[in-house]
Parts: sequence; C-alpha cells; structure tokens
Amino acid sequence: MLLDGRKTAEERNLLLKERIEKDVQLYHRPPGLAIIMVGEQPASMSYVKGKLKACERVGIHHRLIQLDESINETDLANHIESLNHDETIDGMILQLPIPKHLDESRLIDCIAKDKDADGFHVINQGYLYQRKPGIQPATPKGIMSLLSAYGITVSGMDAVIIGRSNIVGFPIARLLMDEGATITVCHRKTKDLKTHTSKADLLVVASGKPNLVTRDMVKPGVIIVDVGVNRVNDKLVGDVDFESLQGVASYITPVPGGVGPMTINALLENTYLLYQKHLKKTVV
Ligand code: GUN
Repeated sequence: MLLDGRKTAEERNLLLKERIEKDVQLYHRPPGLAIIMVGEQPASMSYVKGKLKACERVGIHHRLIQLDESINETDLANHIESLNHDETIDGMILQLPIPKHLDESRLIDCIAKDKDADGFHVINQGYLYQRKPGIQPATPKGIMSLLSAYGITVSGMDAVIIGRSNIVGFPIARLLMDEGATITVCHRKTKDLKTHTSKADLLVVASGKPNLVTRDMVKPGVIIVDVGVNRVNDKLVGDVDFESLQGVASYITPVPGGVGPMTINALLENTYLLYQKHLKKTVV
C-alpha cells in the first residue's frame, strides 16, 4: 500500500489553513516565514519554490531572501540577525546546502532559537535528544505524521535507518526510539547493509543513492520510507528500487509524493507553532 504523502500533507495543510484563518481574524497578522537561499542550486530552487507555494496555500506570509553565492559569513549572519528582530517573521530557514566557504553550523546557530523553523539550532537539537518540547526537524517530524496518519504504531518494531545526518538519520532515530522502536542506524561504513535491512520491520532510507535498497535486501511486509530525491535520466527517483519493492512491502512511500510534501507540511506546522509562541508573548 502506498503511504501517500501528498494526500496526507494536503489534509494537514487544510486544517492548518483553517486555524490560521481564525487566528488572523483574532490577532490581525498572519504567521511569517523567511527563507534564505545562498546561490542558485537548481535542486534547492525547486525545494524552495515548493515551500513558498505551500505557504501561499495555507496563508503564511513568506519572504525569500536570495543571496549571492560569494556572500561572506558576516554579511549572511547580519541578514539572519535582522530577521531575528523582524516582528513580521515568526520562523526562518537557511536552505541547505550553502557554499563551502560558509560555516553552516555557526550560521544555523545565529538563528534565534524561537525562529528556528527547521529545528536545526543546537538548542532545539538538544531539546529533541532530551525529549523536551521544542521545534523538531521537518523531515523526521513529517515522517512521524505520515506513519501516524496510516495508523502505523512503531512500538516494538525493528527500525533500520540508512543515513546518519543531523537533518534526517540521527533525529528520526531519536523519534522512532521514543515511540518504542528498536533502532539500527546504518551508514557509509556499515560492513554488510543487507544483514541489517533484512531484519527491518520499518526501513527509513536517507542515503542519497538511487536504488541502494533492492528486493533481495528486505523481508516481506516491511514498511519502507524513502527519503531520497535523486534525478536520474531526468526523472525523480528515491533511494530504493520502488518497482520491485512495491509488491513486497506492506507500505511504501513513492518518490515524488511521499516524504517531500510531508517535510513541507512539517515546516508549515513548525512556523505556526512559533507564531503561536510569539502571539502569546505579545497578546498577554
Ligand atoms: N536541504 C534539504 N533539506 C532541507 C531542509 O529540510 N531544510 C533546509 N533548510 N535545507 C534543506
């Protein structure tokens, strides 16, 4: 069965839109999201367009700040700092990747933690790892919402994650573990991937390698969440061999239309959470 991220995200976005409409009547301002983009990577442009369009649909005010790829770290930090003080902006994201001469981690930590719509700030990551309420990274949060929408309870499952990034692999391990799954995190140095994947009840793949997971590597009935987005011969494909796995998995996400729209939905929901936080400060 398909885990239809497009449909699930649309349903959640609609609920969010209704809540925003009510809040705008009460508080006379919409939530605001700023997206900072450095350079003109085609993949990033396409993700950013998707995010802006989604903001438009749910009524989130949005601002795109496009900066030249030669910008220096101080100037970029100044842009972030001015958004930190902008009262029309509740959340911001720095679209990754950024050029190599810029210190990604330092710049993310320049974002005020209560405007960190991506949940990448060191403090929000700390909250996540200590299970305290905070802003969760969008892709892992979106995956959890998708599983929940299909009534999938991960407690007791063997969950295998491929990829250990700060954006996906590491935080999804935390969230799945919190829900009672037993976790294995595989990565580039893993000796024998198939030994691990063949035990998985739930497999989350965020490797950035098309067709990394094939039919012979999984057991029947596995649930597959494919985070990959790769362009192969002008076609978007994930990290798993969808065609051969579709008949074997009990649930599988398509690419496109699986995790991508859920990531965007989670970003919008994070922006709304930050907006609520800011309203409470100004309204009380
Ligand atoms: N690049 C790829 N995914 C993401 C994401 O979730 N947030 C940001 N800021 N950049 C990304």
